[in-house]
Amino acid sequence: MQEASRPQARPARSTKPRSTAPAALRITPVGPQVRPNGQLYQPRLLGGMEDLAFLRDARDHTEHVLMTGPPGSGKTALAEASFVMDARAGQRGLETIVGTADTTEADFLGTFVQDPITGTFEWLPGPLMRSVLHDVPLLVDEIALIDSRVLTVLYALMDGRGELHIPMNPALDPIKVGPGWFVIGACNPDVPGAHLSDALLSRFHHHFEITTDWDLAADMGVPMDLITVVKNLETRKGQQTYEGWIPQMRDALAFSEAARRYGTAFAVNSLLRKCPAADREDLGTALKSKSDFADAAPLALGARVAGSHR
Ligand SMILES: Nc1ncnc2c1ncn2[C@@H]1O[C@H](COP(=O)(O)OP(=O)(O)OP(=O)(O)O)[C@@H](O)[C@H]1O
Ligand SMILES: [Mg+2]
Repeated sequence: MQEASRPQARPARSTKPRSTAPAALRITPVGPQVRPNGQLYQPRLLGGMEDLAFLRDARDHTEHVLMTGPPGSGKTALAEASFVMDARAGQRGLETIVGTADTTEADFLGTFVQDPITGTFEWLPGPLMRSVLHDVPLLVDEIALIDSRVLTVLYALMDGRGELHIPMNPALDPIKVGPGWFVIGACNPDVPGAHLSDALLSRFHHHFEITTDWDLAADMGVPMDLITVVKNLETRKGQQTYEGWIPQMRDALAFSEAARRYGTAFAVNSLLRKCPAADREDLGTALKSKSDFADAAPLALGARVAGSHR
């Protein structure tokens, strides 16, 4: 059996009547949080509550949460910021698995690895086992890319079975699931190959979408001209007159950083090259509506630098 201390068994759910106070008053905001990579996460509203506080409350009630949204909108950032590691505050972070079409049950639970020198095999716990062992949330990023049959490894735990069994390692006793464990799923449902089974969807108590908050982006220094262009694209998408790519927070932050270091023209051209080819013409036209972006052209390497002859 593993040496690490086991979490307490999950406490029984309270049967007390729920408060009728407005949601915003029922859950105390957590406030901005520094993520492991040093970036500051600015909390956002979710159904009248603070997103960070909501995720912590969902964890406290073992209510699994599924977040959907386009790449770069802030799914991973929100999960990480909600459960930052801070030993002094008694917070223990979260475990993450990033799904692909090839993710296996062993990627969740763990596997035996051979020591190249001694030749002996040692058990290496996977993120699911570590999350239960350390009683922290499990973030299953890109969950919609994982084969539905593999995801059944989560079903019993998500249904409230209080123990994790590791069939591949019979030497391990079942591990008790503690009150700090729950699942956060994150995915972009529009990516090719994405699929979430009804059985999995129904096991997530809460589902919500994340798209970029452009007011926050402006506060973070993203140029207003870019924000105006993107918001117009979003309006057109809503009216079904545009179906193409729309930059999100990650792209906008990269744009402002490039503009700061290399100038606006470089940032615009780089963004245009990043845009999927099929949507580039539409995005180019939209960008050119701003005088500062009038010369937009997808970034490409040019001629030899003058004076570099040897
Ligand atoms: N509320 C926020 N406060 C501060 N930064 C944010 C916020 N939301 C998103 N960001 C920033 O936006 C960028 C993209 O966020 P993130 O990586 O979480 O996106 P994602 O939705 O997980 O993307 P993907 O689907 O590609 O994994 C990051 O640099 C992140 O720090
Ligand atoms: Mg992510």
